[in-house]
Parts: sequence; structure tokens; C-alpha cells
Amino acid sequence: MKLFGQKQKQNNQKQVPKPEAPTTLAGIAKLEKGTTSLADIIAPSSVEVDFNYIRVGNSFYKTFFVVGYPRFVSPNWLSPLIDFDHSMNISMFCYPTLSNDVLSDIRRKIAEMEATISSQAEEGKIVDPKVQAALEDALSLQEQLAKGVERFFQFGLYITLFSESLQDLEEASKKLTSTLSSILLITKTTTLQMEDGFKSTTPIGVDKLYIARNMDTTSLASTFPFTSATLTQDKGIMYGINEQNGSLIVFDRYSLENANEVVLGKSGAGKSYLIKLEALRQFMFGTEVIIIDPEGEYEALAKTLEGEYVSFTASDPVKINPFDLSGLYEEGENELGLKILSLHGLLGIVMGKLDAGEDAILDRGLVETYRQKGITADPATQKKLPPLMEDLYKVLLGMEDQTAKNLSLRLEKFIKGSLSGIFNQQSNFDITNPFTAFSIKALEEELRPIAMHIVLDFVWTRVRKSLKRRLLILDEAWYIMKYEDSASFVYGIAKRARKYYLALTTATQDVQDFLSTDYGKAVLSNSSIQMLLKQSPSEIDLIQKVFYLSEGEKELLLSSDIGEGLFFAGQNHVVMKVIAAPFEHSIITSNPQELAKQQDQISAETAPQNSSPIDSMSAVEKNPSENQTPVSNQTSPPPNQNPPDINTAPPQSPPPVLNKP
Ligand SMILES: Nc1ncnc2c1ncn2[C@@H]1O[C@H](COP(=O)(O)OP(=O)(O)O)[C@@H](O)[C@H]1O
Ligand SMILES: [Mg+2]
Repeated sequence: MKLFGQKQKQNNQKQVPKPEAPTTLAGIAKLEKGTTSLADIIAPSSVEVDFNYIRVGNSFYKTFFVVGYPRFVSPNWLSPLIDFDHSMNISMFCYPTLSNDVLSDIRRKIAEMEATISSQAEEGKIVDPKVQAALEDALSLQEQLAKGVERFFQFGLYITLFSESLQDLEEASKKLTSTLSSILLITKTTTLQMEDGFKSTTPIGVDKLYIARNMDTTSLASTFPFTSATLTQDKGIMYGINEQNGSLIVFDRYSLENANEVVLGKSGAGKSYLIKLEALRQFMFGTEVIIIDPEGEYEALAKTLEGEYVSFTASDPVKINPFDLSGLYEEGENELGLKILSLHGLLGIVMGKLDAGEDAILDRGLVETYRQKGITADPATQKKLPPLMEDLYKVLLGMEDQTAKNLSLRLEKFIKGSLSGIFNQQSNFDITNPFTAFSIKALEEELRPIAMHIVLDFVWTRVRKSLKRRLLILDEAWYIMKYEDSASFVYGIAKRARKYYLALTTATQDVQDFLSTDYGKAVLSNSSIQMLLKQSPSEIDLIQKVFYLSEGEKELLLSSDIGEGLFFAGQNHVVMKVIAAPFEHSIITSNPQELAKQQDQISAETAPQNSSPIDSMSAVEKNPSENQTPVSNQTSPPPNQNPPDINTAPPQSPPPVLNKP
């Protein structure tokens, strides 16, 4: 009884507001009538429907439907329509059809056609070639459908042209009809059905005409009008996946007019990752790789590939003398002159900006320094032992001029004290390993550009000695690109690299610095491949201007994920996602979490294998968060040798032993 009473009560409560609802709705309706709605604002003042057109506001519209299609189509065969130079709306309606229904229809149709042919043959007439062709098509379609290779669709294609004047509309209509007939499309106007035609080509997905034609999957697929550029060659290495159509971006940079590449992206966008991946894959195809690594990121990669990892510090035994000459003689090139030019660049960083007077004195000093060692423009003399930084210092000090003395003072700290170990020694190193990385991370920030310049010059000297397919990587190039003379040196390499079968990769996060000098821009225009990864808002405008990006591409670069961006090669560009295989990822990642995990694994591997269960449990106890994941974690490498005793042992039983004491 009580329950009943309660229910009634609820009912009563519900009934109370009911009579109010209609009054509220009526009130709202009344209120809406008095206000301006969105439809009021966008609706045209009048619509006039004629036999041959429909006028909406001030514009005239005319709709066509397609009745005849070509027998064979090739990919993107509708491009003449898509590229037709007039305002228009195009609608395509695809209706999937059940294959069984179609199959029985086809069977009947085939029987009809066979009957026609045999009766014609019996009457002694020549068989109609049209029927013969249709029969062949039907038979092959029947086979494809029965096998499930193809599916069956009905396809409707409508086009509405529009124009401000009726005359223009008529002219455009004639042009469209003749354009379409050139690709064997037969069109008709929707006479007396202009309104339906108009509605069917507005983006509301309603087909009021329903004039469809049979099509199989292949034909339908090639009708799809938006074919995007693909960057796939039959040779080269894979760079990533084309995000627009899922195809692979496979490219051989050495096949382009130059093999240089510029990678731009904000810090953490995945530049170094991309470069490492490329270096790894190029290396596997026999390319020699040389890396200048200011962040010390390439060590794991170099070690895995059994490459050489040279660390550039005072205590490191490897020395490079910036005064080294290549000992090469090339027709029309003054080796010593080029070297002095490069040294100007280097000393520009070492001593700070030089004015014209200082520059002239430095030039004299450099020539004199080489002369004192018996080295002149004559190539025969250039095999002699080159001078050192301190020889230049002495020459400058010995000059009468006060400016020269000042210059020598600015040089002093590089030949005395700790820095002399780095910059003031004869070279004792040669690039013999096909994978060599120079780390300059241990140097102070202000010395890095100097070291970078020296290494770059050294590498350039060596590279020219023997012709091999090489890749030279300059990560964080902004360190030296902000110095005009160094930038000019990098540009010189970019320009001449092709001659030496060398590919130069420059990566930078600081687009402003990179593109602030003309040399930076010139390096960019001398690079056939350009990669744009995620950009920061402060630099996107510059990027947009330099690369002529559309608004959409600009948005994409602002919001892209790690390893995602635009890949430019020559005239084409596509949206790319860089993807590495798990084994590649483990070598090239610089994610500290993953690196720590790898280190743990290595130390676990090297630790004694026969540890007691209690020992291994205490390790688990120390790391409770990691303890839970590995059992279910499928992606972590199979724990074969090392922590299996941790992972496979049931975690429930031993802990009480540990907890007891
Ligand atoms: N395509 C990618 N897939 C997975 N991880 C990536 C990818 N690209 C970069 N990473 C990770 O993102 C982080 C930043 O990448 P990094 O190449 O060092 O950036 P940048 O050199 O642009 O500063 C690293 O931890 C790296 O492992
Ligand atoms: Mg980096």
C-alpha cells in the first residue's frame, strides 16, 4: 500500500509542470517569430525556377547529369572536369549494391546477349560488335564479382554551373559539355528539374535526381578526383609515410640535382631522430656517414654501427689542426686561397667581428704564416707541414702595426692555457671509419661554433681526397650559421658537394638565425630536399613566406606531432610521418625515459645471472611501479635472459617472506 501511495505521489509531481510546457513552447515560438534567424539572414530574396536554369538571388544555376561514361578509365580521369575553369558544384553519389542481386541480373543480361548473337549468326547476319563487346565486359565482370575481387556500385555524377549572368552561364555550359565529351562523358541538362538538380549539388548529401550508372570498385576508385602527389622512387631509402594516402616516401637523394637536405623544426620536433634514422638507413646501403654532433646524441648510433665517436676536448687524444691543407691540386682552384678564406671565417668567430683594416692585416698575417713554413700558392709546396695557430700569433705579434698586436692578443687565449690543447696542435687523425661522429658537446657553448667550423673544414678537406658516396650531417647548424663567414663556408660546401658525391644535411631549430644571412637562404635553395617539422608560432610566418605555404600547411606545421611535417623534394611536397622500426628506434631515440630503461636492461644483463629469488624480489620491491607493467607489456623486448625471474615468478607468494622481518 505504501509503495502504491508513493508511486501516485510521483505521478502527481510529474503532472504538475505538464500544463506549463505548451505555454512555454508557444511563448518561445512567438518570441522566435519576432527575431531574425540565421535562415533569414542567408536566404536569398527570391528563387525563380525556369525550364533551363534556376535563379537564386542574383545568380543563375544550371545542372547537368552524366548519362554516358567511357568504357575504360585511367586514374584521375576526371581531372579535366576538376580543373575546369569556372565556378561549379560537383556531386558524386555512390550507392553500394548487393553482389548477389547484380549477379542474377548479369546472368540474365548475358543470356539475352548470347541469344541475340546466336540468332544473328543463325540468320547469317554479321554479329553486332557492340553486343559482342558488351558480352565480353559482362562476362569478365561476372567473374570478378563472383570471386569477390570487385564490388558493385551505382554512381551518379551531377554538375551545377553558376554565374552572375545568364549569357555567361550559357557560354560556360557549352564549354563544359565539349570538355566532358572529350573524355567521352555524355551530359544532359536537368531540364524541368532544375530545382532538384540544384539541391542535389548542394553539400547536404541528398540525391533528388537519382540518375545512376553501374560501376565496379576499380572504376569508382579511379573516379575519385583528389589524387595527391606521391614521392616514391624505385630506389633509395624510406623516409616515412605519406600521411595523405598512406604510401611510402622512398627517395634517393643522390638522384636529385644536388643531394643536400635542410631540416627545420622547433626543439623536440624530431629533427635529430629523422636525421639519425636516415643516416642509419643510408649507412646500410653503403654510404659513408660523417656527423658533427653538438649535443652528444649520436654516440649510441655510432657505437651500434661500430663507428668512430670522436670527442672534441682538450684531454682527448684526437687533434685537428685548422691550418691543414688538402694537398690536392685542382685546375682553376687556388687551394691556399680557399684555405685562407676558410680561416678568415674561423678567426672571425675566434676573435669576434673584424673591421676592414683588421681583416686586411689578418690576411697578410695568414699569408706570411704559411710562407714562413715554405707554403705558397704553388701546389708543390702545399704538402709541407702546415703552421699552427701559435705561428699566426707570433707573426701578428711581430708585425709593426698596433692593430696586428691587438689581433694577436685576441688570439692569445687559444694558444696558451687549456684551449691550446684543442686548437693549437698538428692533426693526428684521419677519417678511416665509414661511420664517424665528432662530438663537441664537452666544449663550452661559445667554443662550439669554433670547433664546428674546424671539424667541418677538416671533413671537407678529407672528403675531397677520395670520391665516395658520403653523407655529412651538421646538426644544430645555427651554431655556426649565425656567423656570416662560417655560413658562407657552409654555403660553399653545399654548392660544391655534388661534385664530390657528398650529401650535406643541415638541421636547425633556429630558423631566424639560419635564414637571417643570405648564405643561409642560399644553403636552403641549394638543397633539393627540405623537411619542415613542427614549428613554433614565432617562426611560422617566416617559414610560410620562404616556402610559400598555404594556410592549411601553416596550421599543420603548428599543430603537428613529433616526427610529422612536410617533406619537400624538388617541386613536390607531401605530408610525412617519420616511422622507425622498433630496433631502429631503440638505437636512435633520445627519450631519457627510454634511455634509462635501456641502461637498466644492460646493467641487468651484465649482473650475475644466478641471483637468489630474494635478491631479485628486493629489486622488484625497490621499483614497484615497474614491477606491475612488464607482465602485460607486450611492446617491451622479450625479457629472455635478464629479469625473467622477476617477471615470470608469481609476485604474490614471495613478498610475505620479505615483509616478515
Ligand atoms: N618519429 C618519431 N617517432 C618516435 N619518437 C620520436 C620521433 N621523432 C622524435 N622522437 C622522439 O622525440 C624526442 C625529440 O626528438 P629529437 O629528434 O631529439 O628532437 P629535435 O632534434 O628536433 O630537438 C626524442 O625523445 C625522440 O626519441
Ligand atoms: Mg636535435
